[in-house]
Amino acid sequence: MSELINAKVQNGIAWIEINRPKALNALNFQVLSEFANCLDNLKKDKSVRAVIIKGAGDKAFVAGADIGEMKDMSPKEAKEFSKKGQEVFMEIENFPVPTIALINGYALGGGCELAISCDMRIASDNARLGTPEITLGVIPGFGGTKRLTRVVGDAFAKELMFTGRMMKADEALERGLVNRVVSGEELESEGEKLASEIADKSGVVMSILKEVSTKQSELTAEQGMLIESSAFSVCFSTEDQTEGMNAFLSKRKPEFKHQ
Ligand code: CAA
Repeated sequence: MSELINAKVQNGIAWIEINRPKALNALNFQVLSEFANCLDNLKKDKSVRAVIIKGAGDKAFVAGADIGEMKDMSPKEAKEFSKKGQEVFMEIENFPVPTIALINGYALGGGCELAISCDMRIASDNARLGTPEITLGVIPGFGGTKRLTRVVGDAFAKELMFTGRMMKADEALERGLVNRVVSGEELESEGEKLASEIADKSGVVMSILKEVSTKQSELTAEQGMLIESSAFSVCFSTEDQTEGMNAFLSKRKPEFKHQ
């Protein structure tokens, strides 16, 4: 039974909502465990072709890891907490279909780390992003020191982490931390539009594309080219490759079967 995570699947799109608005959707052990279960269940649902992650309420996506829960942790407990967050966010990074974070309001600390474990991010114009862990006497613990550098580059990632300052949506857009900025009212419809565009394509080939493009940043050019050509060849064992190319040549819209 899930209390703090809501999930529904509609038209090939899975919506995951972190539902702790009174604590600005802060991530505690329970949220992380329910999140992990939710991802496990969605992974088995073959109708899911895109995932949208959002926070409940209109104030925050996620305002970070739960400071009340962390305050009295021993070093051993802190390590377990960090590992748990890393594990869940790694599941999101490697989720077999594309993921989109909808950032309404604050995405701070663990919230920013959650957003950057998704493939894409859309922010509302009132979004505030940052990694304020240093102001609490800790460092990012859910993959931020690794992923933030990958997303915005070493110098800017360090500026954000070293100062702990909050950034407005426009600056996040300028820095490539979010894909686009829309008004709060448009946030869900924009997310749904982007997810539908993705869900419309071949599910089987999209999963191959997601896996290959996600792995690229960790590989050498030679390794990257190798997995690309192997994966390219796997596409030719799918029905959707035949359908996509036949449809193009017959000047009609493809009808993908996602296999
Ligand atoms: N953990 C636990 N509770 C939190 C929280 C968090 N990260 N962020 C907000 N809350 C709670 C507040 O304690 C408050 O609860 P009460 O009503 O019971 O007092 C409620 O949410 C509303 O928050 P505020 O009253 O503070 O709201 P505000 O509008 O005045 O400020 C804010 C909003 C600027 C986001 C402020 O809440 C804030 O700075 N939050 C903490 C942000 C932060 O430092 N995040 C990083 C956490 S560390 C981390 O994430 C480590 C990691 O990588 C693993």
